[in-house]
Parts: sequence; C-alpha cells; structure tokens
Amino acid sequence: MKPDSYYITTPIYYVNDRPHIGHAYTTVLADVLARSQRLFGRPTWFLTGTDEHGQKVQEAAAKLGVDPQVHADNTVVRFREAWQRLEIQNDDFIRTTEPRHKIIVQEILQDLYDRGEIYRDEYDGWYCVPCERFFTARDLVNNNCPECGRAVQRVREANYFFKMSQYQDWLVDYIQTHPEFIQPDFRRNETLGFLRKPLQDLCISRPKSRLSWGIELPFDKEYVTYVWFDALVNYISAIGYRRDDATFARWWPAIHLVGKDILTTHTVYWPCMLHALGVPLPKTVFAHGWWLMGSAKMSKTLGNVVNPMELMDRYGVDAFRYFLMAEMVLGQDASFTEEGFIRRYNADLANDLGNLLNRVVSMIGKYCGGRLPAPETGAFQKGPAAELFRQVAAATASFRTATENFTLNAGIAQVIEAVRATNRFIETQQPWTQARAADPGPLRTTLYAAAEALRICAGLLMPVMPAKMTELRAALGMENPMTVDPKELSTPGILPPDVAVAPPGALFPRIEAPVPDGERPATPPAAPAAPKAAPPGTIGNPEGIITYDDFAKVQLRTAKIMGAEPIEGAVKLLKLNVLMGDERRQIVAGIALYYKPEELIGKTVIMVANLAPIKLRGVESQGMLLAASKGERLRLVTVDGDLSSGAVVK
Ligand code: ME8
Ligand code: MG
Repeated sequence: MKPDSYYITTPIYYVNDRPHIGHAYTTVLADVLARSQRLFGRPTWFLTGTDEHGQKVQEAAAKLGVDPQVHADNTVVRFREAWQRLEIQNDDFIRTTEPRHKIIVQEILQDLYDRGEIYRDEYDGWYCVPCERFFTARDLVNNNCPECGRAVQRVREANYFFKMSQYQDWLVDYIQTHPEFIQPDFRRNETLGFLRKPLQDLCISRPKSRLSWGIELPFDKEYVTYVWFDALVNYISAIGYRRDDATFARWWPAIHLVGKDILTTHTVYWPCMLHALGVPLPKTVFAHGWWLMGSAKMSKTLGNVVNPMELMDRYGVDAFRYFLMAEMVLGQDASFTEEGFIRRYNADLANDLGNLLNRVVSMIGKYCGGRLPAPETGAFQKGPAAELFRQVAAATASFRTATENFTLNAGIAQVIEAVRATNRFIETQQPWTQARAADPGPLRTTLYAAAEALRICAGLLMPVMPAKMTELRAALGMENPMTVDPKELSTPGILPPDVAVAPPGALFPRIEAPVPDGERPATPPAAPAAPKAAPPGTIGNPEGIITYDDFAKVQLRTAKIMGAEPIEGAVKLLKLNVLMGDERRQIVAGIALYYKPEELIGKTVIMVANLAPIKLRGVESQGMLLAASKGERLRLVTVDGDLSSGAVVK
C-alpha cells in the first residue's frame, strides 16, 4: 500500500449464514473507516465478500437438494441486500466461487507445490465441521472443539501439507518487531502465546470422497483445498495478485478487520502463506471484540442470532450504525440490549445532536426570519465563538487520529463532546437575552457560531450516519450537504450568511419506551379499517372491504422457482419446485398454457405461504403463486430487482 492509499477488508462471511449484528458490526466498522479515509482525501479501497466453499455449504445445499453453487447464488443475495440496506459503500465484493479467485488459488497451490512448500503425508487428527478446522488430540478441550465446544470427528487419511512449521521463528520475530501488525496489544500477546507451542505443518487438502465442494488441487484431482487456504487468498486475488501488478502494488498491504474468533488463521496461517509466496504481510490485522446477547456469545453456529434488519426497521439505519460504532469499545466485547440502544440513542442523538439542530434552527427562525445571520467581524479570532471553535477543531483532530489508530468509539465520543460544548455555549450566551439588546451583533455571532460548530460535528459524523448527517447539513442551508471537504472541518465561516435554514423538526425523535414485540404491527395500516359488521353495499363501506387484520392473515413471501415440469394428463397444470428462504415447497400452478417450464426457472415470484396444502390431480400443492390475468393473458407477479427468496411481502 502506497503511503497515500488505504486498503481495508472484512472477513468474507460464510455464504449460508444469515447476516446478523456481528457481521454488520465488522462491515459497518470497515465502512466507517473507509468513508473517513475518503473524507480526509486518501485513495481508499474497501473489500468485503463471501466464503462459499466447504462442508457447511455442501451440507446445506444437499439438505435442500440443490447444487452448492445454486445454493450459494441464492444465499449471497442476503449479504448484498444487508450491506445495501446498511449503506455500505464497498468498492468490491468477492465470492470465492468466482473464476477470478479460483484461478489464483490454484496458481498459488501449484507454485508452492513446485517449490516444495507443500508435501503429501498421512493425517490423523480431529475435525470440527462448524469451524472447518483440524485439531490435534492435544488441542481438544474435554474431547470437544476448543473453539466452539462441539463434538469433533476423528479423521485418518492421506493429505497435503503446507510446511508452516519452518516459519515459526521468523513469524515470532516479525510479530515482535512490527507492533502495528497485530492489534490490539493483547491480541498480539494471544498469538505469541499460541506460538510458544511448536507450530505444526498445515493440512491444506480434503479428499473429494469426503468433501467435493472446493477448489481442486491442480496437482491432484482427487482433492480440494482446505477452505481457509482458499478463503484467505481473497484479500489478494481481489486486487489483482499475479494478474495486475500495478493495481496490486497500489493497494497491498491491507488492513484486515476481523473478529477475535479468527485471529489465529489471520495472524499465523496467513502470514506464513504470504511469506512463502514472497508477498509482504498485511499492515495490520485488527481483531475486534464480540457482541454478546446477555452473556452468550452470538453466532450462527450457536443459534441465537439477532436480525439487524429488525433493529434497523425499528430505529433507522443511521441510528443503528451509530449505536454499533459508539457502544463497542474497539477491541473489547459489548453487550447488546434494546434498552442499551435506546439509552444511547436518546442521550447522544435525540438529546444532544438532534436537540442542538432544533434549537439552532428554531432560534434562527424566531430571531432572524429563518435566515442564517452573519457573525460579527473577527468573531472567530477571539471571544466565546473563537473558544467554541477551538473545542470543535480539537474534536476534528481527535476524530481523525481515532480513525487512524483504531479508537473510533473514542473519536465519536469527542464529537459528541463538542456537540455538548455547543449546547453549553448556547446556555451561557443566552441568545434569548441577546435578542433583546439594541446591538444585534452578539446574537448573530452566537447563532452563526452554533450553526458552524454543528456543521463541523455533522461533517465528522458523516462516515457514521451518512443519510442523517446529510439531512442535518442540508437543514443548515449547505448547498452540497453530502460532500465534506476535509478543509472545512477545521475552518470557520463556511456557511454562507443569509441562506435559509430548515424549519424545526425532529432529526432523531426521542424513543419513549421499547414496544414489546407482539404489540408492534409489521406495517401500520395504510387506511383506517372499515367496521367488520357493516352491511355490504352501503356508502363508505363498499362491498369486499377487509380490515388490515384480515389482510395480515395472508402470509406472502418471495420464492425462487428451481424446477418446473408438466403433470401428466393435466394440460393446464405445472408442478413447480420453489425455494422459499431455506424451505423447499412443491406447488401445482395452473399456468401451463402461459409459460413453458424452462422459462420459469430462476424467477423470483410471490407466493401465499400459509395456505393449507391441497391435492390437485393427485399432486400435493403447498402454496399458491400470485398471477395477474386479463383476457387471454396471464403473467406471474414477480419482484422488481434482486431480492432473496423467503422475503416477506407486505
Ligand atoms: O469466519 N460479534 O466467516 P463467518 C462480533 N468465512 N463480530 C462477529 C460476531 C459477533 N457476535 N459474529 C460474527 C468466517 N462476527 C470465515 C472468514 S476470512 C478469510 C474467512 C463477525 O461468517 C466477525 O468479524 O463465521 C467474525 O470474525 C466474522 O463475523 C466471522 O464470520
Ligand atoms: Mg463463524
């Protein structure tokens, strides 16, 4: 990585997981750091993606009776959707099943094999399927996986090994002489602790008889490569390693953000692989802490998953991003509770930031006809406005440092502190008293300085809450509220006087109390419901009107058509095989006169998911598809654009 460029990555997530708060955290963190670098004018590349090979994907696909690639294609959409919803601005999204990645993994394997870095041997050990990791008997804890505590399988077979053990001394020395490589410090010590035991060679193959869903070893067609040897390579295959030297040189080495669960793979396996290839090591592997629900670790493997979409729908995407970034001390674990969320939202966003905007625009409305007043000459050179500006400029400097040295939450806290200082400034200046004075100068300076402080705070928080901070800056009358010029963050007097500010409103309406789940309607009824018992045909209650509750009984979901075939002896019917999320359904649809079976494959349609199954011509139908028909024509109702199957239609 050239000194003036910044390359940041997230782990590539297992494709068959559902995106949850943990994935959201790492990805939002990478996004905020990338956006901050872009804001400060540094060329930035941000990579995320999905890990699509391995036993878990193979097993999930087999359970559904689909090809693993089809399963991956169907499930990757969930991550793409989640990141879009979370306003993630990644520059690339890599999938390990893409040819651009597979070819590089194979070239690397061949290269290492040719140079004697990989050899064949008999393997005898223990394997954890959920973690996709091998362990020696000594690694096990109570005979279970030391990582997740689950049962492990005994495995004995011939395999290929990467000569990792020879790099142990080099790696220990590298880690000790490059303190920026593993962060935070206590994670560096964790890796060094791991390296006090003798380092084993790494088993990098799986016989196809046991696992076929992987990248084939170029020197032995009976094997695929171990998923980690495949997955880690994404960080270099995505930026042109062995294909586009200029691009590769431009971005490498990277900053890898990972959770603490995958510290060893990133700080032991990966550096040894890179060293064997003659590639410099990543600049930094930063392992953050764990989101806990109550006290339990949360992940797909353990089953207690919070759906970030639900929180976002309830409280807004930007507030959710803010909470994730502000609440977790970078590196430490944090607990998620809805109460904690509401506490922080109300304190920082509703009371401090939202309230400051509202005060400023209300007073500009009341005392200055809604137009930003010009400050007195020299107001930012000395006096209270200059003092306020010094505090805000200090927040800019701290925030910038915080994004460089992984103390983002502290940087955010400094900005909120500047917001509080601005609120205090208003208290002490008392514009309501100044407004009664003969000289309008001090009042104008107060309101202008408060608006300026707010402009800068909102600019700093732009990487965290892009939509809300754009809204805030637009309310102050900025012409290009979305574009933050780094210079404006330490320069006073940017807002043009006399520009109209927005009328007061609630940028972050206070959350009064959490609404218990059962009492919250999924979507508020669009129109008041008609009384149920009204006689049909009367004015105001036209025939056939149903209440929202009636409508809500029908569960509509998106489904992807995976297979379609005619039913013998029934010219109008087709038997369809659809995938609704993780569920397979068979549907008999009366559409044979309008669609050929092959035209239907791959379409995402809408189905009634809670219809009692019935038999049509002796074939069971587990649901019904929606279609529109007029005269001779019939067309299936589909969704507009890419959406994963199983989505709720409302
Ligand atoms: O490990 N709190 O993928 P994965 C915080 N495919 N972060 C969490 C979390 C939690 N409760 N749960 C998950 C894999 N994460 C491999 C990676 S990289 C070459 C291959 C985040 O889907 C955190 O970043 O299990 C963690 O490292 C990652 O999700 C694991 O994602
Ligand atoms: Mg995991």
